[in-house]
Amino acid sequence: MTQLRKITFAETKLDDLDAMQGTIAVLINAAGTLSPAARRVNRLCKGAVARAVETEAWGKLAEGDVLTLAMPVGLQAEAIVLMKLERKPEVTAARKAGASLAKATGAKAVTVLAEGTARLADVALGLALRGYKFDEHLTDKAEAPGDAVIWVKDPGAEAKAVSDALAVAEGVFFTRDLTSEPANVLTTTEFAKRLEGLKALGVEVEVLEEDRLAELGMRALLAVGQGSESPSKVVVMRWKGGEGAPLALVGKGVVFDTGGISIKPAAGMEEMTMDMGGAGVVSGVMKTLALRGAKANVVGLVGLVENMPDGKATRPGDIVKSMRGVSIEIVNTDAEGRLVLADVLWHCQQTEKPAAIVDLATLTGACIIALGHDNAGVFSNDDGFAGQFLKAAEAEGEGAWRLPLGKGYHNQIKTLKADIKNTGGRPAGASTAAVFLERFIEDGMPWIHLDIAGVAQVSSETVLAPKGATGWGVMALDRLVRDHYEKG
Ligand code: BES
Ligand code: MN
Ligand code: ZN
Repeated sequence: MTQLRKITFAETKLDDLDAMQGTIAVLINAAGTLSPAARRVNRLCKGAVARAVETEAWGKLAEGDVLTLAMPVGLQAEAIVLMKLERKPEVTAARKAGASLAKATGAKAVTVLAEGTARLADVALGLALRGYKFDEHLTDKAEAPGDAVIWVKDPGAEAKAVSDALAVAEGVFFTRDLTSEPANVLTTTEFAKRLEGLKALGVEVEVLEEDRLAELGMRALLAVGQGSESPSKVVVMRWKGGEGAPLALVGKGVVFDTGGISIKPAAGMEEMTMDMGGAGVVSGVMKTLALRGAKANVVGLVGLVENMPDGKATRPGDIVKSMRGVSIEIVNTDAEGRLVLADVLWHCQQTEKPAAIVDLATLTGACIIALGHDNAGVFSNDDGFAGQFLKAAEAEGEGAWRLPLGKGYHNQIKTLKADIKNTGGRPAGASTAAVFLERFIEDGMPWIHLDIAGVAQVSSETVLAPKGATGWGVMALDRLVRDHYEKG
């Protein structure tokens, strides 16, 4: 799997500068005031740094952007990267600066002269995240990235913040790797196996196999997987780091979605390898929480299935009884994610007795039409809870926008032959999918549904990720846990 760059903090050693290899990065504020370290570099390279910060090019840079001076005289280093960043930057600016540095240096080793600047753990996080590449199946693998060393006054003072930030990076990489893997590699069985790997970090992992799911009455979930050679599974991951009822995270893990008998068009169908993105985020968050030893109880549940056409596959018009007892007319087998989530959500409430639930799913094309690729859709029955999440997402720079639930949408999924049907037609497709899920939430249970169809994987790079899987949501949910589920 993609290697995370090694990032450490060390004391500033200005006397070593002239012999440093690789890249030397220097943090400079917008005003262009040079720190003692920047002044030393400037002296060694005969004033190039001071000249650079007086140019129009430097003036035009936004905070978090960089300017590269290649092959500087007076130094062994191949490049000096000047990073524009205030002494007390916002979290998102600090991460953007780290990401810009990752892009500028590629795989080269880098020494960052950062003394006097705050939020360096976030600079490190940006540097780590933007260095991601999914090269698992390439013959010519990406060069292993050289180490990054961040020079500060007191490396010990940064230790906790940095190890927490790197725990976040590991979680995001886990999500991106899972989301990127093709379905012949990441079968339901392989997915469950990778989740069992979290046991080594202290996560309790329970895998429910098909016979057990049948006993539990999860007919809606099983209907989705019955056309596939891969067995359907539900994996429960429990991180017990705190007290009281857990926060539950529930993810859609459709390892591939052909649409089933209501088959999708060929063009672009290969993108449905990412239809387990919700389960990927749940998995990534669990990994982060375990790695940083979060003092909170969080349980993650994922429904792992594959949606394929076959003689045994579900037909349009089939009626199934969900675990809750609600009967569902499956009018379109391509609206499968909600069938999976219906049973996992219900099972979660029956067995885990959570304090609140967040579910994540690449659920609807309609959400992409509504919000594009910069914002996930946020649906909730609880304004306070939704507000907490939106605030966490904003602080982490992950786009999220509230969309409505409501009676009218419930009316759209009424049908004659069963309690509900699994699509509500074209109008408000993201909201009718959300209210379908709401039928499987108990009265009074605080619940957020995140439709991540547009943000889980993108076709052009973002600030913190190259084109491809983003890991959207891992940072926001980790922040939600920190801010509201961890005491002290
Ligand atoms: N996994 C898809 C939604 C999706 C589309 C995710 C594009 C990511 C990118 C989901 O299972 C699906 O097929 N939804 C249908 C629902 C429709 C049949 C009501 C859709 O959105 O077209
Ligand atoms: Mn589908
Ligand atoms: Zn799907």
